[in-house]
Amino acid sequence: MPDDNYQLFCKRIHQLIGLDLALYKDKQMKRRIGTYMTRLGVSNYLELANLLSKDEEALNSFKEFLTINVSEFFRNPEQFEILKTKIMPEIIRPNSRFRVWSAGCSDGCEPYTLVIILEELGIKNYEILATDFDVGILARAKTGAYKIDSLRNVSPILLNKYFLKGEGDIYQFNPKLAMQVKFLHHDLLSGKYEKNLDLILCRNVVIYFTEEAKNQVFMKMSQALRQDGVLFVGGTESILAPKKFGFQTIYPFFYKKVSNLEATML
Ligand SMILES: C[S@@+](CC[C@H](N)C(=O)[O-])C[C@H]1O[C@@H](n2cnc3c(N)ncnc32)[C@H](O)[C@@H]1O
Repeated sequence: MPDDNYQLFCKRIHQLIGLDLALYKDKQMKRRIGTYMTRLGVSNYLELANLLSKDEEALNSFKEFLTINVSEFFRNPEQFEILKTKIMPEIIRPNSRFRVWSAGCSDGCEPYTLVIILEELGIKNYEILATDFDVGILARAKTGAYKIDSLRNVSPILLNKYFLKGEGDIYQFNPKLAMQVKFLHHDLLSGKYEKNLDLILCRNVVIYFTEEAKNQVFMKMSQALRQDGVLFVGGTESILAPKKFGFQTIYPFFYKKVSNLEATML
Protein backbone atom coordinates (compact mmCIF):
# COMPACT_ATOMS: atom_id res chain seq x y z
CA MET A 1 0.00 0.00 0.00
CA PRO A 2 1.30 3.49 -0.75
CA ASP A 3 2.37 5.23 2.39
CA ASP A 4 3.61 8.64 1.27
CA ASN A 5 0.43 10.39 2.38
CA TYR A 6 0.01 8.52 5.65
CA GLN A 7 0.87 11.51 7.89
CA LEU A 8 -1.61 13.67 6.02
CA PHE A 9 -4.21 10.93 6.31
CA CYS A 10 -3.63 10.77 10.10
CA LYS A 11 -4.25 14.52 10.33
CA ARG A 12 -7.50 14.26 8.35
CA ILE A 13 -8.70 11.38 10.56
CA HIS A 14 -7.78 13.34 13.66
CA GLN A 15 -9.97 16.20 12.43
CA LEU A 16 -12.79 13.87 11.42
CA ILE A 17 -13.05 11.56 14.43
CA GLY A 18 -10.71 13.08 17.03
CA LEU A 19 -8.46 10.00 17.17
CA ASP A 20 -4.75 10.68 16.68
CA LEU A 21 -3.51 7.74 14.61
CA ALA A 22 0.02 9.15 14.75
CA LEU A 23 0.12 7.87 18.34
CA TYR A 24 -0.58 4.30 17.23
CA LYS A 25 2.16 2.01 15.90
CA ASP A 26 2.56 2.77 12.18
CA LYS A 27 3.16 -0.77 11.04
CA GLN A 28 0.04 -2.29 12.59
CA MET A 29 -2.18 0.63 11.62
CA LYS A 30 -1.00 0.69 8.03
CA ARG A 31 -1.55 -3.03 7.72
CA ARG A 32 -5.04 -2.68 9.16
CA ILE A 33 -5.99 0.33 7.06
CA GLY A 34 -4.52 -1.40 4.02
CA THR A 35 -6.93 -4.31 4.53
CA TYR A 36 -9.76 -1.81 4.80
CA MET A 37 -8.73 -0.04 1.58
CA THR A 38 -8.58 -3.35 -0.29
CA ARG A 39 -12.03 -4.18 1.00
CA LEU A 40 -13.40 -0.86 -0.28
CA GLY A 41 -11.41 -0.97 -3.52
CA VAL A 42 -9.63 2.27 -2.62
CA SER A 43 -6.01 2.57 -3.74
CA ASN A 44 -4.47 5.29 -1.57
CA TYR A 45 -4.80 7.16 1.72
CA LEU A 46 -5.96 10.40 0.11
CA GLU A 47 -8.76 8.67 -1.71
CA LEU A 48 -9.82 6.98 1.52
CA ALA A 49 -9.73 10.27 3.46
CA ASN A 50 -11.89 11.94 0.80
CA LEU A 51 -14.38 9.11 0.86
CA LEU A 52 -14.59 9.14 4.67
CA SER A 53 -15.09 12.89 4.84
CA LYS A 54 -18.08 12.68 2.49
CA ASP A 55 -19.78 9.53 3.73
CA GLU A 56 -20.82 9.39 7.38
CA GLU A 57 -21.80 5.75 7.23
CA ALA A 58 -18.39 4.80 5.82
CA LEU A 59 -16.74 6.92 8.52
CA ASN A 60 -18.61 5.07 11.26
CA SER A 61 -17.74 1.70 9.82
CA PHE A 62 -14.10 2.81 9.53
CA LYS A 63 -14.11 3.80 13.21
CA GLU A 64 -15.47 0.40 14.15
CA PHE A 65 -12.93 -1.33 11.97
CA LEU A 66 -10.04 0.61 13.51
CA THR A 67 -10.79 -0.24 17.08
CA ILE A 68 -10.16 -3.87 17.87
CA ASN A 69 -12.89 -4.84 20.28
CA VAL A 70 -12.16 -8.47 21.09
CA SER A 71 -12.95 -9.22 24.73
CA GLU A 72 -14.47 -11.86 26.98
CA PHE A 73 -15.39 -12.38 30.61
CA PHE A 74 -12.42 -13.31 32.85
CA ARG A 75 -9.97 -12.86 29.97
CA ASN A 76 -6.84 -14.72 31.17
CA PRO A 77 -8.64 -16.38 34.11
CA GLU A 78 -5.45 -17.06 36.09
CA GLN A 79 -4.76 -13.31 36.22
CA PHE A 80 -8.28 -12.57 37.40
CA GLU A 81 -7.76 -15.20 40.10
CA ILE A 82 -4.73 -13.23 41.32
CA LEU A 83 -6.79 -10.06 41.19
CA LYS A 84 -9.53 -11.64 43.29
CA THR A 85 -7.46 -13.54 45.83
CA LYS A 86 -4.28 -11.47 46.20
CA ILE A 87 -4.78 -7.92 44.96
CA MET A 88 -8.31 -6.99 45.95
CA PRO A 89 -8.11 -8.18 49.57
CA GLU A 90 -5.01 -6.04 49.92
CA ILE A 91 -6.29 -2.83 48.37
CA ILE A 92 -9.96 -2.78 49.42
CA ARG A 93 -10.15 -0.58 52.52
CA PRO A 94 -12.93 -0.88 55.07
CA ASN A 95 -15.22 2.17 55.24
CA SER A 96 -13.91 3.49 51.97
CA ARG A 97 -15.59 3.35 48.58
CA PHE A 98 -13.62 1.08 46.24
CA ARG A 99 -13.06 2.94 42.96
CA VAL A 100 -12.12 1.05 39.81
CA TRP A 101 -11.57 2.14 36.21
CA SER A 102 -11.76 -0.26 33.28
CA ALA A 103 -9.94 1.73 30.57
CA GLY A 104 -10.61 0.47 27.03
CA CYS A 105 -13.52 -1.61 28.33
CA SER A 106 -14.80 -2.64 24.88
CA ASP A 107 -18.14 -4.51 25.03
CA GLY A 108 -18.29 -4.52 28.84
CA CYS A 109 -17.04 -8.05 29.58
CA GLU A 110 -14.21 -6.60 31.66
CA PRO A 111 -16.17 -4.23 33.93
CA TYR A 112 -18.96 -6.79 34.42
CA THR A 113 -16.29 -9.36 35.37
CA LEU A 114 -15.24 -6.87 38.05
CA VAL A 115 -18.81 -6.67 39.30
CA ILE A 116 -18.92 -10.46 39.63
CA ILE A 117 -15.63 -10.56 41.53
CA LEU A 118 -16.61 -7.77 43.91
CA GLU A 119 -20.02 -9.31 44.57
CA GLU A 120 -18.39 -12.68 45.18
CA LEU A 121 -16.07 -11.03 47.70
CA GLY A 122 -19.10 -9.51 49.41
CA ILE A 123 -17.98 -5.92 48.68
CA LYS A 124 -20.93 -3.56 48.38
CA ASN A 125 -19.40 -0.11 48.47
CA TYR A 126 -17.79 0.20 45.05
CA GLU A 127 -17.99 2.10 41.80
CA ILE A 128 -16.77 1.01 38.39
CA LEU A 129 -16.01 3.48 35.66
CA ALA A 130 -15.74 1.85 32.23
CA THR A 131 -14.52 3.89 29.27
CA ASP A 132 -13.74 3.39 25.62
CA PHE A 133 -13.06 5.51 22.59
CA ASP A 134 -15.57 3.58 20.49
CA VAL A 135 -19.11 4.80 21.15
CA GLY A 136 -20.63 1.92 19.18
CA ILE A 137 -19.05 -0.66 21.45
CA LEU A 138 -20.12 1.30 24.55
CA ALA A 139 -23.72 1.16 23.36
CA ARG A 140 -23.37 -2.61 23.03
CA ALA A 141 -21.76 -2.84 26.48
CA LYS A 142 -24.73 -1.05 28.02
CA THR A 143 -27.13 -3.70 26.71
CA GLY A 144 -25.36 -6.31 28.86
CA ALA A 145 -26.28 -9.05 26.37
CA TYR A 146 -23.62 -11.63 25.47
CA LYS A 147 -23.20 -14.65 23.27
CA ILE A 148 -22.09 -17.79 25.03
CA ASP A 149 -18.62 -17.51 23.34
CA SER A 150 -17.69 -14.55 25.57
CA LEU A 151 -18.69 -16.55 28.63
CA ARG A 152 -16.47 -19.60 28.20
CA ASN A 153 -14.45 -18.70 31.34
CA VAL A 154 -17.54 -18.21 33.49
CA SER A 155 -18.29 -21.24 35.66
CA PRO A 156 -21.82 -22.71 35.47
CA ILE A 157 -22.43 -21.54 39.06
CA LEU A 158 -21.54 -17.94 38.26
CA LEU A 159 -23.42 -18.09 34.96
CA ASN A 160 -26.52 -19.11 36.81
CA LYS A 161 -26.05 -16.51 39.50
CA TYR A 162 -25.25 -13.43 37.40
CA PHE A 163 -26.93 -14.00 34.03
CA LEU A 164 -30.43 -14.53 32.74
CA LYS A 165 -30.82 -16.87 29.80
CA GLY A 166 -32.15 -14.98 26.79
CA GLU A 167 -33.10 -16.08 23.30
CA GLY A 168 -30.83 -18.61 21.54
CA ASP A 169 -27.30 -18.45 22.83
CA ILE A 170 -27.70 -15.00 24.40
CA TYR A 171 -27.17 -14.36 28.10
CA GLN A 172 -28.16 -11.15 29.85
CA PHE A 173 -25.98 -9.81 32.63
CA ASN A 174 -28.07 -9.10 35.75
CA PRO A 175 -29.56 -5.65 34.93
CA LYS A 176 -29.59 -4.48 38.54
CA LEU A 177 -25.90 -5.24 38.97
CA ALA A 178 -25.13 -3.82 35.53
CA MET A 179 -26.17 -0.45 36.95
CA GLN A 180 -23.03 -0.51 39.11
CA VAL A 181 -21.02 0.23 35.99
CA LYS A 182 -20.85 3.75 34.59
CA PHE A 183 -19.94 3.66 30.89
CA LEU A 184 -18.38 6.79 29.40
CA HIS A 185 -16.76 7.79 26.15
CA HIS A 186 -13.08 8.62 26.74
CA ASP A 187 -9.93 8.81 24.65
CA LEU A 188 -6.91 7.62 26.62
CA LEU A 189 -4.64 9.69 24.40
CA SER A 190 -6.36 13.05 24.80
CA GLY A 191 -8.89 12.76 27.63
CA LYS A 192 -8.60 13.81 31.27
CA TYR A 193 -7.90 11.14 33.87
CA GLU A 194 -9.61 10.61 37.22
CA LYS A 195 -7.82 10.93 40.53
CA ASN A 196 -7.62 8.74 43.63
CA LEU A 197 -8.53 5.46 42.01
CA ASP A 198 -7.86 2.20 43.84
CA LEU A 199 -7.51 0.02 40.77
CA ILE A 200 -7.13 0.53 37.02
CA LEU A 201 -7.50 -2.19 34.41
CA CYS A 202 -5.96 -1.24 31.10
CA ARG A 203 -5.68 -4.48 29.23
CA ASN A 204 -5.04 -5.19 25.57
CA VAL A 205 -5.36 -1.52 24.69
CA VAL A 206 -1.89 0.04 24.66
CA ILE A 207 -0.37 -2.72 22.50
CA TYR A 208 -1.30 -0.62 19.48
CA PHE A 209 0.18 2.63 20.85
CA THR A 210 3.65 4.00 20.05
CA GLU A 211 6.23 3.77 22.88
CA GLU A 212 5.84 7.48 23.56
CA ALA A 213 2.06 7.32 23.74
CA LYS A 214 2.25 4.21 25.93
CA ASN A 215 4.65 5.94 28.33
CA GLN A 216 2.36 8.93 28.63
CA VAL A 217 -0.63 6.70 29.32
CA PHE A 218 1.24 4.79 32.07
CA MET A 219 2.41 8.05 33.63
CA LYS A 220 -1.12 9.46 33.65
CA MET A 221 -2.45 6.21 35.08
CA SER A 222 0.09 6.35 37.87
CA GLN A 223 -1.08 9.87 38.66
CA ALA A 224 -4.70 8.74 38.56
CA LEU A 225 -4.11 6.08 41.23
CA ARG A 226 -3.99 6.72 44.94
CA GLN A 227 -0.84 5.74 46.83
CA ASP A 228 -0.73 1.88 46.90
CA GLY A 229 -3.36 1.68 44.16
CA VAL A 230 -2.80 -0.96 41.45
CA LEU A 231 -2.62 -1.00 37.66
CA PHE A 232 -3.51 -4.30 35.96
CA VAL A 233 -2.30 -4.63 32.34
CA GLY A 234 -2.74 -7.20 29.57
CA GLY A 235 -0.70 -10.37 28.97
CA THR A 236 1.52 -8.72 26.33
CA GLU A 237 1.76 -5.32 27.95
CA SER A 238 4.26 -5.77 30.78
CA ILE A 239 5.89 -2.51 31.85
CA LEU A 240 9.64 -2.88 31.39
CA ALA A 241 10.74 -0.05 33.68
CA PRO A 242 7.90 0.34 36.20
CA LYS A 243 9.97 2.58 38.52
CA LYS A 244 9.92 5.29 35.87
CA PHE A 245 6.20 5.64 36.51
CA GLY A 246 6.37 5.27 40.29
CA PHE A 247 5.27 1.61 40.07
CA GLN A 248 6.52 -1.55 41.70
CA THR A 249 5.73 -4.96 40.19
CA ILE A 250 3.81 -7.03 42.72
CA TYR A 251 2.75 -9.89 40.42
CA PRO A 252 3.32 -10.26 36.68
CA PHE A 253 0.95 -7.71 35.04
CA PHE A 254 0.14 -5.98 38.36
CA TYR A 255 1.86 -2.73 39.36
CA LYS A 256 1.46 -0.96 42.65
CA LYS A 257 1.88 2.80 42.83
CA VAL A 258 4.61 3.34 45.38
CA SER A 259 5.74 6.87 44.66
CA ASN A 260 4.05 10.04 43.65
CA LEU A 261 5.65 11.47 40.55
CA GLU A 262 5.27 15.04 39.33
CA ALA A 263 2.95 15.64 36.42
CA THR A 264 5.85 15.72 33.97
CA MET A 265 5.33 14.02 30.66
CA LEU A 266 8.01 11.64 29.45
C1 LIG B 1 -8.97 -5.43 22.48
S1 LIG B 1 -10.07 -4.38 23.32
C2 LIG B 1 -9.70 -4.73 25.01
C3 LIG B 1 -10.94 -4.95 25.85
C4 LIG B 1 -10.66 -5.38 27.29
N1 LIG B 1 -9.86 -4.42 27.98
C5 LIG B 1 -10.01 -6.74 27.34
O1 LIG B 1 -8.83 -6.83 27.64
O2 LIG B 1 -10.70 -7.73 27.05
C6 LIG B 1 -9.31 -2.80 23.06
C7 LIG B 1 -10.23 -1.62 23.29
O3 LIG B 1 -9.45 -0.43 23.38
C8 LIG B 1 -10.19 0.63 22.81
N2 LIG B 1 -9.30 1.74 22.46
C9 LIG B 1 -8.39 1.80 21.46
N3 LIG B 1 -7.80 3.02 21.45
C10 LIG B 1 -8.33 3.73 22.48
C11 LIG B 1 -8.13 5.03 22.98
N4 LIG B 1 -7.26 5.86 22.41
N5 LIG B 1 -8.85 5.43 24.06
C12 LIG B 1 -9.75 4.58 24.64
N6 LIG B 1 -10.00 3.33 24.20
C13 LIG B 1 -9.29 2.91 23.13
C14 LIG B 1 -10.85 -0.02 21.61
O4 LIG B 1 -11.98 0.72 21.19
C15 LIG B 1 -11.21 -1.40 22.15
O5 LIG B 1 -12.53 -1.47 22.62
